[in-house]
Amino acid sequence: MGSLVALCVLIVVLGFVKTELQNKEFALSGNLTLKPAASPSSISSITWKHNDNLLAEQLNKESPPDYYPPTEKRISLNFKTGELSIIKLTEKDAGKYNVEINNVIQNVGYQVKIIKRVPVPTVVVQPLACSETSTDCSLDCQGDVTGAGTVRYFWKEDDGDWKESAKKKEIKNDADTQTIKEFFCKVKNSVSDEESPATKNPFYKETSSSTVNEETDNRNALHQCAGNLIFKSH
Ligand SMILES: *[C@@H]1O[C@H](CO)[C@@H](O)[C@H](O)[C@H]1NC(C)=O
Repeated sequence: MGSLVALCVLIVVLGFVKTELQNKEFALSGNLTLKPAASPSSISSITWKHNDNLLAEQLNKESPPDYYPPTEKRISLNFKTGELSIIKLTEKDAGKYNVEINNVIQNVGYQVKIIKRVPVPTVVVQPLACSETSTDCSLDCQGDVTGAGTVRYFWKEDDGDWKESAKKKEIKNDADTQTIKEFFCKVKNSVSDEESPATKNPFYKETSSSTVNEETDNRNALHQCAGNLIFKSH
């Protein structure tokens, strides 16, 4: 008896939870387009709801769509494809979207998040006293990512490849690191990405150019020496 009741409850619950919500993220101030996951070959009526409130509706091909509130100028509906578009997104546009086509509620809806674009980050060397005599330091990819949702960090050395890692990067004052001139970081979320300007490696050692300098010094010394010899032999 108990298990029968449980089964009935389960069936009722499943009946209510038949709409699957897909997560979507859009940029604040940007545009949104939502497409019905599956639409019949011909649409005779379409209704979009936002948080269970009527948002856009067109009940036949002849009449124009209605938008709610009617003063809303940012929404548009494509009757042919069923696509809903909203421009100049604000935080209020976040929430649940459902669509009904030809009087059938579609079993795929959307859970919309409105997030901020990431800012242009800067690479900050830490601690402040970090210098070429330090044994290790860290690089921090800084920028205010409040409201930007899930962000990912990437690092690049000179003109190398971007590699995903953490917001903070530890650097050791070793032979490998000493060959790197500059560091770059990049912040990315689902709606944007931005790269930092270059930051000089505090541990960089000018190996190749110092060799060149030594060579020219040697050559100068040789010239002087030869000059002296020629001068003296006269
Ligand atoms: C949003 O859509 C409008 C109208 O189609 C367009 O002018 C504008 O450039 C779009 N904005 C973005 C950020 O894509």
